[in-house]
Amino acid sequence: MALFGRKQKPIVGLDIGSSSVKAVELKKTKEGYELSKVGLEPLSPETVVDGAIIDALSVSDAINRIFEAQKVTNKNVGTSVSGHSVIIKKINLPMLEDDELYDEVYATAGQYIPFDIADVSLDYQVLEPSPAGDAVEVLLVAVKRDKINNYQSALIGRNLSLVDVDAFALQNTYEVNYDPDPDSTDALLNIGASVMNINIVRGGIPLFTRDVSVGGNQYTDALQKELELSFEDAENLKRGQALAGVSDEQKAAVLRSVSEILVLEIQKTLDFFRATAGAAGINHILAAGGAARTPGLLDMLREEFQMQVDELDPFRRITYNPAKFSDEYIQETGSRLAVCVGLGLRSFDLA
Ligand SMILES: Nc1ncnc2c1ncn2[C@@H]1O[C@H](COP(=O)(O)OP(=O)(O)OP(=O)(O)O)[C@@H](O)[C@H]1O
Ligand SMILES: [Mg+2]
Repeated sequence: MALFGRKQKPIVGLDIGSSSVKAVELKKTKEGYELSKVGLEPLSPETVVDGAIIDALSVSDAINRIFEAQKVTNKNVGTSVSGHSVIIKKINLPMLEDDELYDEVYATAGQYIPFDIADVSLDYQVLEPSPAGDAVEVLLVAVKRDKINNYQSALIGRNLSLVDVDAFALQNTYEVNYDPDPDSTDALLNIGASVMNINIVRGGIPLFTRDVSVGGNQYTDALQKELELSFEDAENLKRGQALAGVSDEQKAAVLRSVSEILVLEIQKTLDFFRATAGAAGINHILAAGGAARTPGLLDMLREEFQMQVDELDPFRRITYNPAKFSDEYIQETGSRLAVCVGLGLRSFDLA
């Protein structure tokens, strides 16, 4: 679903994370989609905190660096949000004509949203008619205007044409790249530096979404504290570099203790989903985000849940010119670009 803005023009997907900004522009080819521009610029730790842009100028500079390096001329961008400023609810409404349904959504939304309706941007998507055909299930999404204004503040000189939700952008990437079986229930994870988005999907429909405040920073923090390291050393160690005085066993033990916390959060979410949805079990876990790369994490998920767990590859079906983008770059950064690719793909659902 393309939220908050019916775009008329192609957009550059822009994922403003707490550790980095990512941008992706795609083009349509005869066979599907091709990567045309991509960039990732790191942000220093105090720039984006708890999902809020604290230092808009630094974010704007990072975006400018990507656009300049990649010679991006398109000024229309789409971005995505997550966290407490985003409310996602499924509601049942009577079967109505489009414009009446619109009025009904706006008339009833207030009941479901814990904020003043005047302070949010609303959008919705019709999911499924009820078996009797007299009602429809509607996915209602509300984002606090403050949040959108906060993101807008970092987009100096650009048009914010679309605001999406991280979990839905991730789902978009998944659908285009994996062409999932409509009967298969899959859990999509985006494990970033400070937040993990979880989206349980089936047949193109998000069944359950949750954002949890855990991620790669927790591993770095734990390594810093347990092994008395600087942030840089801890980051490098986590990403596989050897460090004098630290054994593989020491490192693995710290990483394992943090992975246990993440696995427990995922476990709680899957248990809650099973208990409330009463639906068929989850078939497959696909994990994106930089922290999905943490040594041992996906193995622990496989072991804990006894199911297929893979890293989500946003370029499984999206081609790129190897003369412009090396395989190595795509492999190294791919999992961190999953949300951004999903945003870039919104250029093509110009319904
Ligand atoms: N190869 C790797 N192994 C382990 N961790 C990694 C690796 N590469 C990146 N990370 C970690 O992934 C995190 C960054 O991932 P990502 O770019 O998805 O986060 P983000 O979008 O900036 O953050 P968030 O969405 O949580 O605000 C950092 O914590 C980083 O240390
Ligand atoms: Mg992120």
